[in-house]
Amino acid sequence: MKRDPWRLAYHLMPPDGWLNDPNGLCEANGVYHVYFQYAPNTPAPDGRMARTWGHYAGPDLINLSFKGVPFWPETLDRDGCYSGSALVEDDGTIDLYYTGNIKEAGDYDYIHDGRLSNTILVKTADGGRTYSDKHLLFGTPDYPKDCTRHVRDPKVWREDDQYYMVLGARMNDDSGAVLFYESLDGVSWRLLKIEKTGEPFGYMWECPDYFEMDGQPVLAFCPQGLEAEDFCFQNNHQSGYSLLSGDLRGKQMFGPFREWDMGFDFYAPQSFVDDRGRRIMIGWAGLPDKPYGNPTAQRGWENCLTVPRVLIKKGNRILQKPISGLKRLRKNPSRPDGEGRLTLPDASGDIEIAFADPASSWDIQMGEGVCLHYNGCIVRLALDEKTGCGRDERLARLDGVRNARLLVDRSILEIYLNDGETVFTTRYYADFETDRRLEMKFNCAGADIYAWEMQPMPANKIYDEEEN
Ligand code: FRU
Repeated sequence: MKRDPWRLAYHLMPPDGWLNDPNGLCEANGVYHVYFQYAPNTPAPDGRMARTWGHYAGPDLINLSFKGVPFWPETLDRDGCYSGSALVEDDGTIDLYYTGNIKEAGDYDYIHDGRLSNTILVKTADGGRTYSDKHLLFGTPDYPKDCTRHVRDPKVWREDDQYYMVLGARMNDDSGAVLFYESLDGVSWRLLKIEKTGEPFGYMWECPDYFEMDGQPVLAFCPQGLEAEDFCFQNNHQSGYSLLSGDLRGKQMFGPFREWDMGFDFYAPQSFVDDRGRRIMIGWAGLPDKPYGNPTAQRGWENCLTVPRVLIKKGNRILQKPISGLKRLRKNPSRPDGEGRLTLPDASGDIEIAFADPASSWDIQMGEGVCLHYNGCIVRLALDEKTGCGRDERLARLDGVRNARLLVDRSILEIYLNDGETVFTTRYYADFETDRRLEMKFNCAGADIYAWEMQPMPANKIYDEEEN
């Protein structure tokens, strides 16, 4: 394999080809499963490319290995095994619910025609070695009449003996919504309700997720078609959550929509609860509809997932904290020198910063192309033309920055501010062609800064070895 300086050390990426949404996240019988939208051998798909799923599994979320493709498009999902989720039964069987996409002749994006969306169930009783036949639960003719042909991405969960499903939808009046279904056996489903905001909020909601945190219902979803506003909705599609009031079985009211991530690359996250009771979310570090020409496509692969993030509710916000297991990959602790300089020899590191005064200004330079800056009021992540592939800056308003955690990994950067209250995720493409040394410069007077290099996780180590 050609040496590829942008392959990642501790973020999941496709072995080759294209990756988008995380799917089917779960822990079953002590094994963690991370499925994802996958198009093997097709790094830069056009809209008609049939996506399938890829599968990573392992004893924790660090020691994962690639298990291949669980199923391929057939009749029910001819043009794509689209996004979906996992439900683990009491006997450890994993039920995978997903959308089977069928594109008809003509404009398959036309909203009243052009595609069919089947809701499909596949089971694996042996941890992903073998899978059942695909079972069609319901499909386009069964969705409510006021929905367009865009209905997809089932997220399924169980409360006591009742199963629930939430699906994302685009309604005939061009507003986004979610459909809730209920079932007693996970196979026969009945529409419970359609839920949407009082005023239309985008034309389509993709990849919904529904869960409770400290007893409060949370609806996470990805609205498309929101107008950019100062400091909000800066990407071509958005991803965030609303805290809801009211009970799932009745009408629910939406609290303010908060974006999960203020960076360039974050979309379609999914969460699950592991056996330790942690609610863990993983996002796609990318966005649909080609927001820029990702240069890794020329090297045969495109996109990656974020690190797993534990969600913690604090007041009316949800904080995101990288899973603690990542610390096991740390090596060679160091601190910046007297001039604030620090080198990451393999462009992969984990850096913790405690600022002396939350109101003070600071900046952090990463190589020549990336700068993170705070002026006491606004955080600015700036990429130069080449490093950002034409993407320039992202901003967030912050009333003080107490601490920061920077996860640097070759061509991705995740920035967690104030214990994960504000997060920026972005891909960046520095010139690592001759070596991957990343020179950093911290202008953060009085801050306490600790840095570690990160070793590759086993699933990714192979790519480093192949290069040698
Ligand atoms: C979100 C999405 C989903 C769909 C999948 C197809 O990125 O558009 O709505 O199921 O990607 O890959």
